[in-house]
Amino acid sequence: MQKEIDTLKAEIAEAVTDAADLIALEEVRVSTLGKKGSVSGLMKGLGKMTPEERKEFGPLLNALKNDVANTIADRKNTLDAAELEVRLASERLDVTLEPVARPAGRIHPISQVMDEINEIFAGLGFDVAEGPDLEDDFHNFTALNIPPEHPARQMHDTFYLKPDENGDRKVLRTHTSPVQIRTMVAENPPIRIIAPGRTYRSDSDATHTPMFHQVEGLVIDKTTHLGHLKGCLNAFLTAFFEVEEVKMRFRPSYFPFTEPSMEVDVGCSFAGGEVKIGQGDDWLEILGCGMVNPKVLEACGLDPNEYQGFAFGCGIDRLAMLKYGMNDLRAFFDADLRWLKQYGFASLDVPTIAGGLSR
Ligand code: PHE
Repeated sequence: MQKEIDTLKAEIAEAVTDAADLIALEEVRVSTLGKKGSVSGLMKGLGKMTPEERKEFGPLLNALKNDVANTIADRKNTLDAAELEVRLASERLDVTLEPVARPAGRIHPISQVMDEINEIFAGLGFDVAEGPDLEDDFHNFTALNIPPEHPARQMHDTFYLKPDENGDRKVLRTHTSPVQIRTMVAENPPIRIIAPGRTYRSDSDATHTPMFHQVEGLVIDKTTHLGHLKGCLNAFLTAFFEVEEVKMRFRPSYFPFTEPSMEVDVGCSFAGGEVKIGQGDDWLEILGCGMVNPKVLEACGLDPNEYQGFAFGCGIDRLAMLKYGMNDLRAFFDADLRWLKQYGFASLDVPTIAGGLSR
């Protein structure tokens, strides 16, 4: 009997070790400890034994049963752990991996240039002001010293909306200058703002699109004069074109809202088929400016005997074309992905004075 038990124990131990998975192990359990299993069969035999035999073999069989149960339980633990290991490995998520920032989108050159301009003027202490694209006649024209029937209205190829019940026609603003008016009406000097934004004129060729962008500048206080305007524009243009020096030329001009008025040219060269801004024997017109006309101050409720200042207005699209070497303005608004990939800017490169405006 002892021998029989030992053999069975060895057999079962081997079967348990051989059970490669939980299903095979369960089969071993059923065939040993199950109702009709080998160990249970031996236990049943106890009933037919004499009391002496039972006394001798009872403990042996009990020990066998316990031993088998333990072996199976141990094996089950091992198999469970192995299975968990496999699952963990297959479901592993490496959260320590750094995110790779590779955005596919690009920043449009207009947005880039606007960011650059904002950054430069923020450094000079200017705030950014905004106004609506859909303007009324007062802000776009009259308050800027362009009354109805004034010939200067013909300078702007204005988009008019249908007249309302009072006969008033709104316009798509033809320049950013109405933001000057809104700012002077709403705020008290000292005023130092730039107003970048969309503007509209009925015009379309390689250098004109019906919608384009301007940035307006306005400084109003008690002492600001033409010298400040020159210094401010020079600081802006050298920073914007990222050069040491920009040659400037101020030509007398006419704008109803400034007096005196000037157009500013920058020195440039076209050597090698490429425009270089700053130095050279050629000139490029780049912006309009002047001292704010006293009539404009008056229209905004400011006393021209007390306050004075300068204003300038500049085409952003043109600045972008000059700085980044693009020659057809219409491509700006074609939304052609190939063009955007070529001329666009990485979305995470924010222009800063310290870190470099462009790249
Ligand atoms: N508003 C003018 C234009 O669109 C530009 C300008 C602004 C000129 C401010 C002088 C002062 O042509």
